[in-house]
Amino acid sequence: MCGIVGYVGREHRAMDVLLDGLRRLEYRGYDSAGVAILEGEKIEVRRAKGKLINLEGVLRDKPLQGSVGLGHTRWATHGKPSERNAHPHRAGSVVIVHNGIIENYRELREELEAAGCVVASDTDTELIAHLINLGVREGKELLTAVREACARLIGSFALGAMSETDPNHLVAAKHGGSPIIVGQGEKQAFLGSDIPAILPYTREMISLYDGDFALLSEEGVQVVDAEGRPVDREPMTIQWDPVSAERGGYDHFMQKEIFEQPRAITDTIGTRVIESALDLDLDGIEFTREQADALRSISLVACGTSSYACMVGKYMIEQIAGIRCEVDLASEFRYRQPILGPDCMVMPVSQSGETADTLGALREGRAKGARILSVCNSRESTIARESDDVLYTHAGPEIGVASTKAFVTQVVALYLIALKLAIVRGRLSKDEIQARLSELMRLPRLVEETLQIDQHVQKIARRYFKAEDFLFLGRGIMYPVAMEGALKLKEISYIHAEGYAAGEMKHGPIALIDENMPVVVIATQGALHEKLISNLQQVRARDGHVIAIATEGDEKIAEEANEVIYIKDLGDFLTSILATIPVQLFAYHVATLRGTDVDQPRNLAKSVTVE
Ligand code: F6R
Repeated sequence: MCGIVGYVGREHRAMDVLLDGLRRLEYRGYDSAGVAILEGEKIEVRRAKGKLINLEGVLRDKPLQGSVGLGHTRWATHGKPSERNAHPHRAGSVVIVHNGIIENYRELREELEAAGCVVASDTDTELIAHLINLGVREGKELLTAVREACARLIGSFALGAMSETDPNHLVAAKHGGSPIIVGQGEKQAFLGSDIPAILPYTREMISLYDGDFALLSEEGVQVVDAEGRPVDREPMTIQWDPVSAERGGYDHFMQKEIFEQPRAITDTIGTRVIESALDLDLDGIEFTREQADALRSISLVACGTSSYACMVGKYMIEQIAGIRCEVDLASEFRYRQPILGPDCMVMPVSQSGETADTLGALREGRAKGARILSVCNSRESTIARESDDVLYTHAGPEIGVASTKAFVTQVVALYLIALKLAIVRGRLSKDEIQARLSELMRLPRLVEETLQIDQHVQKIARRYFKAEDFLFLGRGIMYPVAMEGALKLKEISYIHAEGYAAGEMKHGPIALIDENMPVVVIATQGALHEKLISNLQQVRARDGHVIAIATEGDEKIAEEANEVIYIKDLGDFLTSILATIPVQLFAYHVATLRGTDVDQPRNLAKSVTVE
């Protein structure tokens, strides 16, 4: 999970500020680090694979001194973790650091190489440096060159740039995805991807909006728009205590973790998509065509929220990869004497990697000779250790007891596995693979956009937070999302909530519906949309209040629902992730309105290591 720090000032303190800032961002996790400092007229770059201590070693051998610089901790996205792919990246006199994903990476690389640029790394970031350098070489100021380069980028980015041609400035830019903060001190200015990175030096900060560019110098910070026109951004004064600094300024860890999801998804997609080869590299996990074709069944095993991720994964694996897939609650799996053998694969899915029931299911699979491929968020965990293969989710530490970012990254990981199996089995044409990979690359940005519904969801929560029972309905892949919505609400607000397949409603739960039982319906477009609308009419006919989560452009839904929350449509599978955001936010706001302990709800533990 990448981190950015930048400094421009008078004293020769750039190195200390950069290393200190990078240390404060360490909690996000990273696989390499680097700094660039202007020494005299030249920018010098030092980078190292692994932890900051390695970079510190490099800097001890070859120290840097200067008053302008950039630092970065990288969590690999394009290109494997290595010194060569670590940031900062240089092109000519320009050096940059970057968080995010550039979606038109392939086209840009081809264009830049055709124009004679030599690309030294596998990263998308280096391409941005080349684009900026082309402008600088034409004599443009750094800010102008950055603005023009950014106009060529599709994707999400937060970046910091410096150039030997403009020794007194740093430039920052933001679009989608990752945040970027600029701060001003006396005769110095700071840049950070997170407030804690620069909090010891300044409490006056500006959080850049999408489309903003900032010019930092010892005189201060100037913000402009894409055309270079000044923009007025009121600085905020940060008054956090150390604990809220850890929460990144959010009121609760759960809220912070909901808003971290674009980044968590970006990190989970990571280096695994090789768009140029229309393939996926699942960290070296191998499936031969023979192995994949010989798989009789896949058993997904997990508990709670992770089991709902498995249910979403089942739709993906069966429909894309064409392999029979079962989902079992891990606590039940081994007691039902499942029929397993060497031609089966058991996939435990776990955030903590320590859940006793999931571990028991894993051991059941192993004892019966099945291959074990787990999806896990914790390295060094027991589940990871006991598996044949592990595909890690890179959600980062999840502190809130209610799982949020772990769930969406599990779904992403399962989608990667479904796609890989489908590719290996030759079930997708090149166009289909391309389309699916581009959908995946758009996902972090669309999750970021979806998070903008936060206030709308909060308003709806205010209308319904006193209700004592809720029903959540969905069909197809949205059925597990409905289950997850109900679980989130009951866990943190202590309201009774049930998740049902909408078609099941008439077989029982409809008896409960009256004006006191709000019904949250995940009514996104899809094959079963018309059927779902009639389920919804059955609710309305009984005076039930309907809160619908629908895809943009579905005007008709407003006639059938009391409240509508619109999300984007991202195809048959990934829309399930976008639909998860409103149910998370709804649970969060209802719980805060009811005054419960959101991060540590009663009776719950983050890691359940007992049966
Ligand atoms: C719900 C929640 C739990 C966990 C479950 C499995 O918000 O967090 O239901 O999903 O206890 O935990 P892991 O994924 O760690 O195995």
